[in-house]
Amino acid sequence: AGGNAGGTSDGPKALDELVVGFSQVGAESGWRTANTTDIQAAFKDAGIELKFSDAQQKQENQIKAIRSYIQQQVDIIAFSPVVESGWDAVLNEAKAAGIPVVLTDRAVDSADDSLYVSFLGSDFVEEGKKAGDWVVEEYSGSDDDVKIAQLEGTTGAAPAIDRAEGFADVIGADDKFEIVASQTGDFTRAGGKQVTEALLKSNPDIDLIYAHNDDMGLGAIEAIEAAGLTPGEDIKIVTVDAVKDGMQALADGKINFIVECSPLLGAQLVDIVKQINDGETPEKRIITEETTFTQEQAVEALPDRQY
Ligand code: AHR
Repeated sequence: AGGNAGGTSDGPKALDELVVGFSQVGAESGWRTANTTDIQAAFKDAGIELKFSDAQQKQENQIKAIRSYIQQQVDIIAFSPVVESGWDAVLNEAKAAGIPVVLTDRAVDSADDSLYVSFLGSDFVEEGKKAGDWVVEEYSGSDDDVKIAQLEGTTGAAPAIDRAEGFADVIGADDKFEIVASQTGDFTRAGGKQVTEALLKSNPDIDLIYAHNDDMGLGAIEAIEAAGLTPGEDIKIVTVDAVKDGMQALADGKINFIVECSPLLGAQLVDIVKQINDGETPEKRIITEETTFTQEQAVEALPDRQY
């Protein structure tokens, strides 16, 4: 199968003969589950076979899955890299085998961008900036210090690195904002809860939590409530994603603001696969369109929220 990838020799394959191997990060969050469901449904609708593997947030599992797709000579490999670094060897193996690679959702930090054909996903720095913009606006009426705790995503993951960077850039303009604690909660609800429990002991006077995803924010809510405090009031919470549970908490006043990160990448990934099969060159970087939600906007959007 691999020899024909990219429509190089014998022209495009029939869609029902195409085989795509997809290596997913894991099932760490509501976002990830929605992303998996959407991608699987899009390939099913397109009549393209999708081999799927879940790496359980471990890079070694993703490398194994990619090697196995190379061995099976799939036509195209797509994956969402759990962390940014350490991919050059396996991506060079795919290149040597003539199998095009598409990055979805997260970036790699390889210096050689010929190792992948296209990268489809959000601008995470921009997401961090949007979170920072809201914080700056929210506290614009006062000169008091604002103590912020950050719940980071998986260490080394593009969204953890970039969301921290974008946020720090914006709040750094005013020294009343201070990030007094910043720790990873691994993008999970349990991680967010655990880190917040410890945080409330070491820094009981924090004003705001910036969580790199909804799930960690939801875990923080549990910890805050267990400590007898009111999330959204005693401690404000800003998150990223806008999955249904996050939007419900926003509508309920327990989260104060959410920056959207869309998990619905399936249809665009199918388009990229078709372009490669047709011998066309997809755009190198395709940025997902996304918005932000206040509490009022969440109340309005919730009834139609798909995921
Ligand atoms: O890479 C996207 C991030 O991964 C989402 O924001 C988070 O929920 C997920 O685990």
